[in-house]
Amino acid sequence: MKIFLDTAHIPDIKEAVDWGILDGVTTNPSLIAKEGRPFDDIVKEICSLVDGPVSLEVVSEDFRGMISEARKLAAIHKNVIVKVPMTPEGLKAARALKQDEIRTNVTLVFSPNQALLAAKAGAYIVSPFIGRLDDQGHVGMDIIRQIVTIYNNYGFNTNVLVASTRHPVHVLEAALAGAQICTLPYEVLKKMFQHRLTDVGLRSFIEDWKKVPEEMRPF
Ligand code: G3P
Repeated sequence: MKIFLDTAHIPDIKEAVDWGILDGVTTNPSLIAKEGRPFDDIVKEICSLVDGPVSLEVVSEDFRGMISEARKLAAIHKNVIVKVPMTPEGLKAARALKQDEIRTNVTLVFSPNQALLAAKAGAYIVSPFIGRLDDQGHVGMDIIRQIVTIYNNYGFNTNVLVASTRHPVHVLEAALAGAQICTLPYEVLKKMFQHRLTDVGLRSFIEDWKKVPEEMRPF
């Protein structure tokens, strides 16, 4: 499963790139707005840092506006994937952009039927929002399992990107469900490293090593 960061915050992206485990980045208008910097600057920096897909979202709600924004976004860098909303206009745009060989990520997906429509429209990625469903008392991950089954049943090659993740169990369940991509807030990615037994084990190895006489150590 590919691991993406769901952020536009450059220091967090730099750190994850250094760790060598980052496959891509997803953004949305809210994440960009939080940075308080010009859009072009942020996006160019992300694309120069990340060797993988970078999702950037349109803000128009009509077909023509989406197409015009999508072309501008796609022209920024070859790794840009254009996010369009899960609306009739968004799906129309996804279909048209596929003909122009612009890859799309259909976002704001909350049901398997929406994901089925996104795949039929030719989306490269579909983004079901798991945490926001959990927030409403649903089991968000259920729709990931259903979408994966539907796509497998009919041979759709749209990638399932698990979005709106809130904790490491979401990542685990996404991987078990067979999703192709999971996008994570930086804090969730950091938590994936952490295990008390790793820290305890490392401390005891280091302490025991100190008992080996210096002349007997290779370093
Ligand atoms: O970028 C889409 C999605 O991951 C947003 O997550 O935390 O705002 O529900 P969240």
